Amino acid sequence: MKKYTIGALLFSMLVNFNAQSLQSPDGKFEMNFQLKQGIPYYNLKYNGNVVVEDSKLGLRLFKDTAIKFASEIAKPEDAKFDLNNGFTKTEEKRDSKNETWQPVLGEKKNYINQYNELAVTLHQDATDRNIVVKFRLFNDGLGFRYEFPQQKNLNYFVIREEDSEIDFPTDMKAWWIVADYDSQEYQPQTTKISEIPGRWDQAFDKHSSQTLIKNAVQSPLMLKKEGKDPLYVNVGEAAVLNYPASHLEVDPVNFKFKTHLTPDRQGAKGYIQTSSVSPWRTIIVSPKAEEVLASKMMFNLNEPTKYTDTSYIHPTKYMGVWWEMIIGKSQWAYSTANNVHIGVTDFSKLTPNGKHAANNTKVKEYIDFAAANGFGGLLIEGWNIGWEDWIGHNKEFVFDFITPYPDFDIKMLNEYAHSKGIKLVMHHETSASATNYERWADQAFQLMNKYGYDAVKTGYVGDMVPRGEHHYSQWTINHYYRIAEKANEYKIMVNSHESVRPGGESRTYPNWISAEAARGTEHEAFQGNNPDHQTILPFTRWMGGSMDYTPGIFQTKLDYYFPGDKRFVKTTLVKQLALYVVMYMPLQMAADLPENYQKHMDAFQFIKDVAADWDDTKILSAEPGDYIITARKAKGTENWFVGGITDENKREYTVDFSFLDKGKKYEATIYEDGKDADYINNPQSYNIYKKQITGKSKINFKMARSGGFAISIKPL
Ligand code: NOJ
Ligand code: CA
Repeated sequence: MKKYTIGALLFSMLVNFNAQSLQSPDGKFEMNFQLKQGIPYYNLKYNGNVVVEDSKLGLRLFKDTAIKFASEIAKPEDAKFDLNNGFTKTEEKRDSKNETWQPVLGEKKNYINQYNELAVTLHQDATDRNIVVKFRLFNDGLGFRYEFPQQKNLNYFVIREEDSEIDFPTDMKAWWIVADYDSQEYQPQTTKISEIPGRWDQAFDKHSSQTLIKNAVQSPLMLKKEGKDPLYVNVGEAAVLNYPASHLEVDPVNFKFKTHLTPDRQGAKGYIQTSSVSPWRTIIVSPKAEEVLASKMMFNLNEPTKYTDTSYIHPTKYMGVWWEMIIGKSQWAYSTANNVHIGVTDFSKLTPNGKHAANNTKVKEYIDFAAANGFGGLLIEGWNIGWEDWIGHNKEFVFDFITPYPDFDIKMLNEYAHSKGIKLVMHHETSASATNYERWADQAFQLMNKYGYDAVKTGYVGDMVPRGEHHYSQWTINHYYRIAEKANEYKIMVNSHESVRPGGESRTYPNWISAEAARGTEHEAFQGNNPDHQTILPFTRWMGGSMDYTPGIFQTKLDYYFPGDKRFVKTTLVKQLALYVVMYMPLQMAADLPENYQKHMDAFQFIKDVAADWDDTKILSAEPGDYIITARKAKGTENWFVGGITDENKREYTVDFSFLDKGKKYEATIYEDGKDADYINNPQSYNIYKKQITGKSKINFKMARSGGFAISIKPL
């Protein structure tokens, strides 16, 4: 007996020395780290069941001392440069945290950051180098990253590839888009992991800048183990700073994913100077889809902001001189010219094309309508010179961001807007010429300060300048943060289009309040979005930060403008309302034309009332690709809003209002699809009524195909 006990003790000591185990604060997750023949591995269990099998960690490098890069890239790989083998463990540190923090803008007043941490120092004997692998295990999943301490033999290095693996034991359902170094604006696909390569070739359309990665997918990637005990898994990355964004290579036989970093123009995947850290790789896990949507893990893995003043950052509902250009009714460009030189061409001498939307008369009309309906902002695109040849020519000096077209009186229009309580929202399309934007940024932001703009929509359409760079490479990511920091110096909020997707970085850079970085409403006017699109995006693109989806299209059929036009927004009108609740957007657009809202002022009331910043959020029910029902409590009030959306299928849902305060009475204004509503045949059929409710009430809703419902609730 005694002998057995000592043996067991010795065995467990041996195991403990070889493998480190970490538990989540609630004890449901267990992560194990292990070196096998000097190679690091981790695995993850949930309630005792394997979620992630032993998966390899490590990086391959070009070289770790002086960087003579052109000659370096041609050399064959040499394992001795790599940080993925020959390790021994030299130290193990544990830590834990349980804090509550307040996002400047967010889905809840308080975000809870609770985890147990394990940091293992690995020593590579052959090269006398150390790296640290740090794990944080939360009640909603795992984050891990590499840390590169400054040391004698590790000061500067260039990454060839990061090879972090996530190896799942079974095939799972996957919601994915194709991987690309330059675009995320793809239709989501729904297949098994094993079916991804078979579908991949049909999973993309053409984009203005596009560098696809065969058989790889983007993150956040949503997965589901189907069957009796379903498990939802979300794979992503957080705090992607001074490092390229990653994609996921798919091994369809072993149900395994591996990181694939975005290269720069030379093929390098990150220039690192120690001490430094990698982004966090994130694996969110729950038996409930609702809990995945509610996870704030990606934000928790980012550092608190160092900004000293965030008082200028505020939620805004805005309209835009925008959709009419997207659908082709008017234009960004002012003239008929097709070759213009900024600083040389005299735009007042050019022939107007007669379709320029950003003109004084039209902008004043939009201001009048936005002001009369309580909006805070109005975006105007095409206000500045350069749109005649902005796209497709790889021009470096494409815009100056300070010179208005002759028919746009910037002083008069801002004064007019301010007199009516509206702030104009600036537009800086860079045409992906990031060098040019950096050159002009100070003057551009000074102009904004001078006229009282406090928010800018930036854009990166086309191939990057520096030429050969990618939208998600290390240099370009650093560019986005340089712009965010500079905007902060000028107290300006940023909403970026075609930029890298967020990984919770708004915790650190709270003035970067929104981004597009996915397939938004505009694609309804290009190659279209599927009816299930909006039920997938919150599980993927939204996991790390809000999106400028630009909802609110009431006139969904475009043959209204252009007889015979087949394009249409594939939702009912009511589903457009519900998107304001289901999709978290602190910078929230009402994208349609005033004339279309004028015809439905009763339904437009919901957009006027809905909040953009929240004290609380409850995901009432959700299934990726099928439906999402969300309730949110508006910041600083007792008002609640509920939104429900469905995919291409009709669906019923009964809202249980038990999230409301007990004993209180409320008035609910209900917006539902009409009995005959249908996203193809009758999108504008709706029904609006008021009802007194309490926390005991239940209301049943019948959602049309690609329809929904929206409720605004006020205490009586
Ligand atoms: C693409 C953006 O997504 C869109 O919103 C914008 O209007 C155009 N670029 C022009 O900047
Ligand atoms: Ca876009």
